[in-house]
Amino acid sequence: MNRLADSPALLSTLDPAMIFPADFVWGVATSAAQIEGAAREDGRGESIWDRFCRVPGAIADGSDIDVACDHYHRLEQDLDLIASLGVKAYRFSVSWSRVQPAGSGAWNPKGLDFYGRLVEGLRARGLQAHLTLNHWDLPQALQDEGGWAARHTVDRFVEYALGVADHLGDGLTSLTTHNEPWVVAMLGHDHGIFAPGIKSRATAMQVSHHLLLSHGRALRALRSAGFDKPAGIVLNLAPLLPATPAPADVAKTRIEDGLLLRWYLDPLFGRGYPQDVWEHLGADAPRVEPGDLDEIAQPLGMLGINYYSRSVVSAGTPYDVHASPLPLTDMDWEIYPQGLAELLLRLHRDYPLPSTYVTENGGAFPDRLVDGRVHDADRIEYLREHIGAVGMALRQGVPMAGYMVWSLLDNFEWASGYAKRFGIVHVDYETQRRTLKDSALWLRQLLQQQAAVHAAARQGAEGKC
Ligand code: FCB
Repeated sequence: MNRLADSPALLSTLDPAMIFPADFVWGVATSAAQIEGAAREDGRGESIWDRFCRVPGAIADGSDIDVACDHYHRLEQDLDLIASLGVKAYRFSVSWSRVQPAGSGAWNPKGLDFYGRLVEGLRARGLQAHLTLNHWDLPQALQDEGGWAARHTVDRFVEYALGVADHLGDGLTSLTTHNEPWVVAMLGHDHGIFAPGIKSRATAMQVSHHLLLSHGRALRALRSAGFDKPAGIVLNLAPLLPATPAPADVAKTRIEDGLLLRWYLDPLFGRGYPQDVWEHLGADAPRVEPGDLDEIAQPLGMLGINYYSRSVVSAGTPYDVHASPLPLTDMDWEIYPQGLAELLLRLHRDYPLPSTYVTENGGAFPDRLVDGRVHDADRIEYLREHIGAVGMALRQGVPMAGYMVWSLLDNFEWASGYAKRFGIVHVDYETQRRTLKDSALWLRQLLQQQAAVHAAARQGAEGKC
């Protein structure tokens, strides 16, 4: 740190709390269904999100993912865009139905070729490739046979994982199995507001078990097949707080915390399902076969955490965010950056964390494109504060390896459609024109400053040898 005093000009523009280690991985993230489009081209099969978009009322603006950001046809341009930001890494997902249209059996060479070009394009630009296998878009053919509620989908997923690793593995920096299994289970199968739109707590819990089991089995199979890159899973986590100190609110918070965090983290780290949550579930608890828990608890090469907000829990009238003292994003999510530091410190205290990444963090704001600029000061503030929280956790010893902004581009925000914009790059959906928002320019500057600080520190070190 002393060396930094040698470069006062840089220090005057960069808060020391925002200086990260030279090997810290800065990235941007997307997912296949949200950006690719080309839904019926080059042999892609139908996914559950294609189908769900056609359910009347399911998507707020009645939109679908047929075109999205047309990324499938704009791959090279979008890769240039990523490189232009000065980040080191790109997190993306593979559309299962593009590479294996029926979710089992035949592979689609054109689909595999697309991701081959993506991974090669990242390598050619000096960017790391962080691949997620399942960012929610299960092939519809598998849903027709029971989807994640059916145990045989676990085996389909393992075959899919092996096929993807076989074709793309060499070019990857890391691989994660599932994105946010809680969302797939609860929003897709309990609340029914995401694909496949099922409303059954028992089904949701069975789904969560199959997701975890398929994660563990895939990791084990990948290792046996010689895949040696860091592999793990991405969880959506948040601090949960009771709305009031009343015992009912506190008790409910404990269970919700169990369902969101401990239900996933405990079995992943070999502790089985949390007893209190299991008892609370009663008849809704999943069927777990002998050996399943051992299979789930594979050593993790990395852990991804997606963080957006906190969750305030009430046993009675639901907590009203509009009465919150905290500012809200365009999703009506409370902006609570210290929650990210709290969360990371708690995880570090409670679990033997592997290399940990914030694999998603960002905010939707009511951006306006005016004269070729988007002055998204609120997003810059959001990012600055959350990055600061990661830095704080890092300095407290949490093994933070990287931070990825959600998202590279404005994109299809699931049940909210295209109305909610999370990108640091604006997308005009009429023309598909991409425009760097001020937040993208800010990020680029932050990363340039980081690089300059590290270069100055290195030079200083050499000069004094
Ligand atoms: C996360 C999803 C991601 C995006 C953000 C806003 O839950 O993983 O695809 O929609 O929320």
